[in-house]
Amino acid sequence: MNKIKEITSGKAKSLFTTDNEKHLIMNFRDDTSAFDGKKKEALLGKGAVNNQFNAFILDHLESNDVPTHHIKVINQTDSLVHRLEMFPIECVIRNIASGSICRRLGTEDGLVLESPLFEFFLKDDDLGDPLINDEHIISFGWANQVHIDQMKKLTYKINNVLSKLFLDSGLILVDFKVEFGLLDGNKIILADEFTPDGCRLWDVETGKKMDKDRFREGLGDVVESYHQVADRLGMNIILD
Ligand code: ADP
Ligand code: TMP
Ligand code: ASP
Repeated sequence: MNKIKEITSGKAKSLFTTDNEKHLIMNFRDDTSAFDGKKKEALLGKGAVNNQFNAFILDHLESNDVPTHHIKVINQTDSLVHRLEMFPIECVIRNIASGSICRRLGTEDGLVLESPLFEFFLKDDDLGDPLINDEHIISFGWANQVHIDQMKKLTYKINNVLSKLFLDSGLILVDFKVEFGLLDGNKIILADEFTPDGCRLWDVETGKKMDKDRFREGLGDVVESYHQVADRLGMNIILD
C-alpha cells in the first residue's frame, strides 16, 4: 500500500491517493490545533495514538451498524479509508454543556442537559466554524433533507453506542464532533476521525478532563491522557 500524492493537508491529518482510486491513506500527524487553528503545537506520539484509537472506535461503531470510511490500519500513524465526497458540515452532540455553548448561551459549564442536543456547524476556520441549522444547509445546497436526516440519525446512534462504551470505562462522553461523506454518490458514511481530539471525556469519579481541552487550556499531559483513555478501553496501542 503506497502513498502516491498528497491531496489534503489539514490541521492534524493528511490524505494521500493510493493505487486504488476509491481508497485514500489517512496520515495522523502529531500536529495539534485548537481555536480554529489559532493555537498550534506538535505533540510527540499523538498521531500514533490517535490513528489506533480511531481504528478501535470506528470498528466498534461498524459492529453496531454505523457505516464508516475505515478499512484498515496500515502502520502506527496511517490508515486506509474509503475516498468520500465530504459535506462541509460538522455534526455535534452535547450531553453536558461545555465549550462554545457556554459562551454562546451563558450556560454553566457542566450543566447536564435534559436530553442530548444536536448542532450543525459549518466547516470554515476563517469564519470560526459558525453554528448553522437545517435551513442554511438546504438553502446553500450543502446537503439535502435526506442527507440531513441520515446524518442526525447516525450521530444520535454514535452518541448512544459510545456513551455506553466510555461509561463502562469510567468516562463521561460530554460532547463530540463527527463528519460525514458520501460514498458512490449516495451512501452516507462516517468519515474523518473519532479521537480525544474531537470530543470531551471526563473521568466519572474525579471530573478530570482526558481530551483536547487539556491542550486548549494548557493543562499538560495531553498525549498521556489519550493513552490512559485507550488503556481503560482495552486498546493495544503499538509504539516504536
Ligand atoms: P481540518 O480540515 O479540520 O484541518 P484534518 O487535519 O483532520 O482537518 O484533515 C482531514 C481532512 O480530510 C478534513 O478536511 C476532512 O473533512 C477530510 N476527510 C476526512 N475523511 C475523508 C474521506 N474519507 N474522504 C475525503 N476526505 C476526508
Ligand atoms: P465546541 O464546544 O467548541 O463547540 O465543541 C463541541 C465538541 O465538538 C468538542 O468536543 C470539540 C468538538 N469540535 C471539534 O473537534 N472541532 C470543531 O471544529 C468543532 C466545532 C467542535
Ligand atoms: N474548533 C475546534 C477547536 O477549538 C477544532 C479546531 O479548531 O481545530 O479545537
